[in-house]
Amino acid sequence: MWVLGLESSCDDCSAAVVEETANGPMLRSMAKQSQDHLHGPYGGVVPELAAREHLIQIRNVIQEALDKAAIPLAKLDRIAVTQGPGLVGSLLTLFSASKALAWREHLPWVPVHHLLGHLGAARFAAPDLPFPALALLVSGGHTHLYRASDWSHLELIQKTRDDAAGEAFDKTARMLSLGYPGGPVVDTLAKKATRSAGSFSPPKFRDGKASWSFSGLKTAMKLRIAAEPGLDQAGPEDERVQALCRSLNETVASWLLKPIPDIARAAGAKSLIISGGVACNSEVRAQAKLMADRIGLRLAIPEPRFCTDNGAMIASAGALLVPPEDPWAINADADLKFA
Ligand code: KG4
Ligand code: ZN
Repeated sequence: MWVLGLESSCDDCSAAVVEETANGPMLRSMAKQSQDHLHGPYGGVVPELAAREHLIQIRNVIQEALDKAAIPLAKLDRIAVTQGPGLVGSLLTLFSASKALAWREHLPWVPVHHLLGHLGAARFAAPDLPFPALALLVSGGHTHLYRASDWSHLELIQKTRDDAAGEAFDKTARMLSLGYPGGPVVDTLAKKATRSAGSFSPPKFRDGKASWSFSGLKTAMKLRIAAEPGLDQAGPEDERVQALCRSLNETVASWLLKPIPDIARAAGAKSLIISGGVACNSEVRAQAKLMADRIGLRLAIPEPRFCTDNGAMIASAGALLVPPEDPWAINADADLKFA
């Protein structure tokens, strides 16, 4: 089965052609246009600008994916598209375009929950993953832990009490004048650092649960930067900046993974999937590997190009869903929940 996967929920415009085979999904092509240059000056995604840019990008992105895979639209078996959650203007662009294409070509069409897409990204490297699995989906908007009974069914276990982990990277990079998005540059500088700037105190919760909160980390980072005059403008070559980036990498990775062993035991999990933009982080990947080996969990972290938003993950998840009987009644939904 040949699937065209389309994703435009935030600021990445992407299309991919994936062949679903007996051995799992095989990537045949992927096209992706970034909008970082557009949002960079604002230090975060500007929804209206993102939607307008998607409108310009979608035709090229779809055509590039089809050309690279050398397959005409009419030969596809289905189109899968992100339905939500996300920015409504961004979602609507590829969502509407996908419906128009499906209607014109008489193709089956499936709407996909964005987080099922991040989960589906792990199928490329681990199609035979044992379930139940824990799925840690961690990006600029999400830090959510699910129990997955298979690739298409997620049940929320817990989520961040405030900010997503990706925000800690984006806001820190902004405070250090390092550009947007913050995660990739912080991660690069962390690897260059010859020392760490020390740890941050983990949040304590009144109910005593091992949970997540990243807004205090943002404030602590702000105070540390303010305590050293000129640090906010010192730039990527400054070793104090690099040391802070290393501290942030180590802190976020250890906080994210801390609750996992207990929850994995309680959920009877056989494996752990980590996906979403923050799953690109080198320290998260390294610490997760050590932890998974220690407690005997099979680990599946997609390769970095599949961790950030992309069309391939939507195709992979969409290949496993049943197309709805009445596609025209279905709308994009900025706050889409699991059914
Ligand atoms: O999944 P994604 O592309 O979009 C959302 O759905 O949010 O994730 C983007 C987030 C941003 O916050 C970005 O800074 C972060 O993922 N990110 C990283 C890394 N690469 C991207 N965070 C830490 N380390 C990285 N290497
Ligand atoms: Zn995402």
